[in-house]
Amino acid sequence: MRRKLVVGNWKMNGSLATIAELDAIAAAAGRAPGIDVAVAMPATLIAPAVARMPGFAIGAQDVHQDKSGAHTGCVSADMVREAGAAFTIVGHSERRTDQHETDADVKAKAETARGAGLSVILCVGETLTQRDAGEAERVVTDQLAASLPAGAAADWLAIAYEPIWAIGTGRVPGEADAAAMHGAIRAALCGLLGEAGAAVRILYGGSVTGENAGLLLHIEDVDGALVGGASLTAAKFVPIVEAAQR
Ligand code: 13P
Repeated sequence: MRRKLVVGNWKMNGSLATIAELDAIAAAAGRAPGIDVAVAMPATLIAPAVARMPGFAIGAQDVHQDKSGAHTGCVSADMVREAGAAFTIVGHSERRTDQHETDADVKAKAETARGAGLSVILCVGETLTQRDAGEAERVVTDQLAASLPAGAAADWLAIAYEPIWAIGTGRVPGEADAAAMHGAIRAALCGLLGEAGAAVRILYGGSVTGENAGLLLHIEDVDGALVGGASLTAAKFVPIVEAAQR
């Protein structure tokens, strides 16, 4: 009942020249009608990407929690919406770490994004120290409870579980650990949202590749993938799209 969702996150990579990669990515999405495919671009590339690929879901990687105002260097939800973004990521661990974003900030960002008409991918995930201490599920479900936006619903919100130790490292959780965590997130969503929690998609992110996507994407409650490095080229991203469609 939950359609798989595969999302690329280009992070601080890409240029006007490399948005040509989207041609083959959108073509692969067209050959995979059973799933949803999207790419979160750097803010400056959203409008050119939308102009190049009308109809393909382009998103932002972050938005400010305020609608507008004196926040030098920040980008608002209305701005990325006007540029053509359909969605935004919020709460990525790189922002929680580098920009010191709190759960309260992330919740506010998600709510502001929703108010601007954007769908939202809300990221949660534990550090290796927390996992080794046996605290991973508690940390992640606490993050989820504290950052879940008001009115959370499957038609505009997805959760991305991204263990910090798996991002950009080539390491991925074993099948049992991934299943346990996604199950814990599902239980937490149902506890917080009631029946509506069953419909919210839970993506996995962290070192997803064409080689491991088939296994990861068929674990129960893994409803898709949030892909960093392997989303930067069609050659690496398309096999992940194809694995999700199978
Ligand atoms: P990698 O796929 O490069 O590990 O990045 C994952 C990620 O952080 C996506 O948001």
